[in-house]
Amino acid sequence: MTSKRAPSSAARPSLSVGLLTGGGDCPGLNAVIRAVTKSLLRQCQARVIGIEDGFAGLMEGGRTRELDWRSVSGILFSGGTMLGASNRANPLASEAQTEAVLARARALGLDVVVAIGGDGTMTIAHALALRGLPMVGVPKTIDNDIEGCERSFGFDTAVATVADALERVQTTGQSHGRVMIVETMGRYAGWIALEAGVAGAADVILLPEIDYEPEAVLAFCRDREQRQHFTVICIGEGAKPRGGQLTIAGLSPERAEPVRLGGVGHVLREWLQPRLASEVRATVLGHVQRGGRPTPFDRVLATQFGNQAAQLVARGEFNRMVTLQGGLLSSLPLDRVAARNRRVPLDHPLLVAARQIGVSLGEP
Ligand code: F6P
Repeated sequence: MTSKRAPSSAARPSLSVGLLTGGGDCPGLNAVIRAVTKSLLRQCQARVIGIEDGFAGLMEGGRTRELDWRSVSGILFSGGTMLGASNRANPLASEAQTEAVLARARALGLDVVVAIGGDGTMTIAHALALRGLPMVGVPKTIDNDIEGCERSFGFDTAVATVADALERVQTTGQSHGRVMIVETMGRYAGWIALEAGVAGAADVILLPEIDYEPEAVLAFCRDREQRQHFTVICIGEGAKPRGGQLTIAGLSPERAEPVRLGGVGHVLREWLQPRLASEVRATVLGHVQRGGRPTPFDRVLATQFGNQAAQLVARGEFNRMVTLQGGLLSSLPLDRVAARNRRVPLDHPLLVAARQIGVSLGEP
């Protein structure tokens, strides 16, 4: 659903735009906030209203502040989000909460809300759009798993962090002749594990998309014990052994995404250790992948996404999400991206290349 309006700076000088960062944080959020705000201020003389802590700031009163040029200056390089984020605030949890959000947006005089977030945020944005609140989505996630968007900002930074970790564990693994396991984030998609695994010279890459055969990983490590004396394994948190279960770190029932993954690296370590002569160590990288300064690539992508969102707002092209397809910026209707995920296709060229250069994917 796309509703079109044509606010030009002359016709609609008082355009009011809400801006929030939903879900978990991600490097590059501040770069988007900066670009959306600067672009809207320059082109539409819009009022940009920053909403605190994602949708929580629309569910509770007194959680907004006007953003001006000065307030978004100097934040391009910084990690986190100056607006705060929350993955607990779900306006769809009850009809009363949905109504409260719509009423608060009306009371604030918002013409449109720009929501920067992942699949959960896009699902909420789509539902609110259907209820009459114009929305523009900006895809954000280190997981790179948003439907219709080939590259989300934050992913490059996460990959750089994991690749650096893999390089570091390789040297210590080499010194001690160990099997070193590094667990990455990524939920049910293996993009981080695959790209960082290749960039960090992992010998074994285990992804949620391919259930691994423990015996195949064992045989590969044993073979390397004879030849290279060390092995580096990069495993995505959503990976599981063939016929086995996901490793769940905990449940947060109040969240739109209640299952928290984590710990599969330790599960694999416990299985491998008694079967190998070498010592096996596991490192779960966790939130270091989400924090810190965005890479220059992510700063550029986030700036482009933010500016593109401002263009959609300026043209009145609402209820769409900014996207990158075929290397080009464009947009998709929210109903095409809500409640979906993008996983690594089994014929992805990088997956094929990894296999061809001798990386084990845990296949029999
Ligand atoms: O979706 C981003 C992500 O970092 C996932 O990779 C990870 O599973 C999850 O969020 C962690 O969430 P939380 O910060 O709530 O523990």
